Amino acid sequence: MSSPKLEETIERKSDETGDKVTPWDVNAESDTGIDYDKLIRRFGSSKISPELITRIESIIKKPVHHFIRRGIFFSHRDLESILTVYEQQKPFFLYTGRGPSSEAMHLGHLIPFIMTKWLQDAFDVPLVIQMTDDEKFLWKDITIDDANKYAYENAKDIIACGFDPTKTFIFSDFDFMAQCPNFYRNICRIQKSVTFNQVKGIFGFTESDCIGKIAFPAIQAAPSVSSSFPFIFGEKLKQELPCLIPCAIDQDPYFRMTRDVAPRLNFPKPSLIHSTFFPALQGSKSKMSASDPNSSIFLTDSPKDIKTKINKHAFSGGKDSIEEHRAKGGDCDIDVSFQYLTFFMDDDQRLEEIRQDYSSGKLLTGELKKILIEVLQTLVAQHQERRKQVTSDVVRQFMTPRQLNFRY
Ligand code: TRP
Repeated sequence: MSSPKLEETIERKSDETGDKVTPWDVNAESDTGIDYDKLIRRFGSSKISPELITRIESIIKKPVHHFIRRGIFFSHRDLESILTVYEQQKPFFLYTGRGPSSEAMHLGHLIPFIMTKWLQDAFDVPLVIQMTDDEKFLWKDITIDDANKYAYENAKDIIACGFDPTKTFIFSDFDFMAQCPNFYRNICRIQKSVTFNQVKGIFGFTESDCIGKIAFPAIQAAPSVSSSFPFIFGEKLKQELPCLIPCAIDQDPYFRMTRDVAPRLNFPKPSLIHSTFFPALQGSKSKMSASDPNSSIFLTDSPKDIKTKINKHAFSGGKDSIEEHRAKGGDCDIDVSFQYLTFFMDDDQRLEEIRQDYSSGKLLTGELKKILIEVLQTLVAQHQERRKQVTSDVVRQFMTPRQLNFRY
């Protein structure tokens, strides 16, 4: 087989920083976290510019979500073409996913889903959500049954983000593979178009990785192709529909691969919008990780847990003594509590006041943490309340292959 030209999969190695960003490992050199401008250059994606934001706002006729306004979703591939499709009143769909590695989801896991929910409302489009229980079985030391169980448990937290049940399909790879021949057919088409050499180059697999890992990227690629869901988009699709994928930027390698093979299979290249990482409590050098409980605020945490964790672990950009802090002020760029507020405090004006007061030394670290604790206690309590409403019947409804409320 002749090798396809790899336009997108090649990372530009020049101007390399010490930052590490792979689907399995994120680590920054600096206390301020990953250098995202350099990452954009290295990955070859595009920055979400002020002009692009203006264009989005004029098309949807409302302000963009603060994740976009504040640069939390900061990078994209071909977002313009999705906007053009929407302007022409042609259909597209959203695709995102989650690797269910445990029952415990944390705040960072919510970010792509909050963004996706906002996009679903803003554009009124169907959405597919892949739960990669197969991926987690292959990568982690867990059984198939447990991975599958986590997929259904995590689906409850995802549903609690407020997705429209008439426009959203959630699926477990293990179960969907048996329900939908078209999905597996697209997976095989993609697998046939990518060589071991290529996935080695993109993902760093080695000869001693199990072959399940080597074949997996095609499984994450296939949901970006609309014909993988004939019950949603019709059995006799004349043309594949365009797809927009919101994800954290560490997932980009999967979709660089997808975009590289797409033209050869007559699939449209999926568009993407990428988020930054949600920092660990210990600081922006690493992202929040469920495997390190001290780094994480879980969606199951009590108000007291939240208070203790923030007070005890949230890395502070404040000064050592009150006198010094009053004199020199705190550093918002490295302060985790302030960073969390940029994710979860939607009031721009209040956030700006806090930034100024903390930087000038007027606001102390303890006071900043108190504000954050209240914001997070409310957010998590509301999430828990909504999750309680998600019965197994509701989960079954979302996870049943069916037509969605969508005309095209
Ligand atoms: N690999 C992702 C994870 O481990 C899960 C995933 C599957 C995903 N498909 C996706 C994430 C599409 C974003 C977009 O969490």
